[in-house]
Amino acid sequence: MKRVLSLMLIASGAMLGAAAAPSLAADATARPKVDLAKGEQLFNDGDPSRNVISCASCHGPGGNSPGAANPKLAGQHPEYLYKQLANFKVKEGAKKPERVNAVMNAIAAGLTDEEMRNISAYLGAQALKPAVAKNKDTVELGQRIYRAGIPSKGVPACASCHSPNGSGIPSQYPRVAGQFAEYTESQLVAFRSGARANSLPMTQVAEKMSDAEIKAVSDYIAGLR
Ligand code: HEC
Ligand code: HEC
Repeated sequence: MKRVLSLMLIASGAMLGAAAAPSLAADATARPKVDLAKGEQLFNDGDPSRNVISCASCHGPGGNSPGAANPKLAGQHPEYLYKQLANFKVKEGAKKPERVNAVMNAIAAGLTDEEMRNISAYLGAQALKPAVAKNKDTVELGQRIYRAGIPSKGVPACASCHSPNGSGIPSQYPRVAGQFAEYTESQLVAFRSGARANSLPMTQVAEKMSDAEIKAVSDYIAGLR
């Protein structure tokens, strides 16, 4: 009986993958565990003893930033959030971080790997309160770019990676829908200028776009659901 049970455990462990079978201890490939409660606490309160500021003070409760000065993080894929926090840090031997932003560079420098994973998992589990599109005049152009790209310039459709409704594809492509237009615009400009150098595909997309095209697609994306 004991033998049958352990065989069953092994079988179910194999089916669910290593991460779901912590009881099969000595598996070095197991993914690190995340603690949403710890992530929530650090996000809300920061850690004054180490000068880590509350994330919520800028990014809002649950990552639903109330104003366009700071991006919404609620409901974003944890893998993407974790990558951004890592990209805000200066890698060993590098002169500057892959993603330059004075505020976030300073904040990310103080976070441990475990804390970045916990916060990212916590945010991924929050419901997004989406922003809205504001510019009627550019909706059509924005929609066309989002759905079909700009064929004459070789700009691919945003939808082909970020999905038709902008929710992205977990672990590969971030959600863009419902983000503030101002933030999306600033990121496309940063990809174009090289201030944000953490994604070759996005650099190649943005470097072919004009200011007017960037503005139109950013506003359209804010209203996408
Ligand atoms: C003083 C305000 C402020 C605080 C505090 C702050 N952030 Fe930010 N955060 C920003 C701004 C502004 C940006 C946009 C940066 C840019 O333009 O590249 C940002 C961007 C980010 C991004 C990238 C979002 C994306 O969609 O790519 C992540 C992730 C993030 N912050 C996480 C955090 C976490 C976690 C904390 C707390 C440990 C935190 N932030 C604290 C202002 C802040
Ligand atoms: C070939 C796939 C691909 C296409 C096509 C693409 N993207 Fe992206 N996009 C990505 C990837 C991958 C990332 C994540 C970059 C990173 O890791 O920082 C990203 C990130 C972004 C971000 C940053 C999100 C944030 O929260 O900071 C924005 C904004 C964005 N894309 C907008 C667009 C728009 C607008 C288009 C169409 C004009 C587009 N993308 C087309 C792959 C793509």
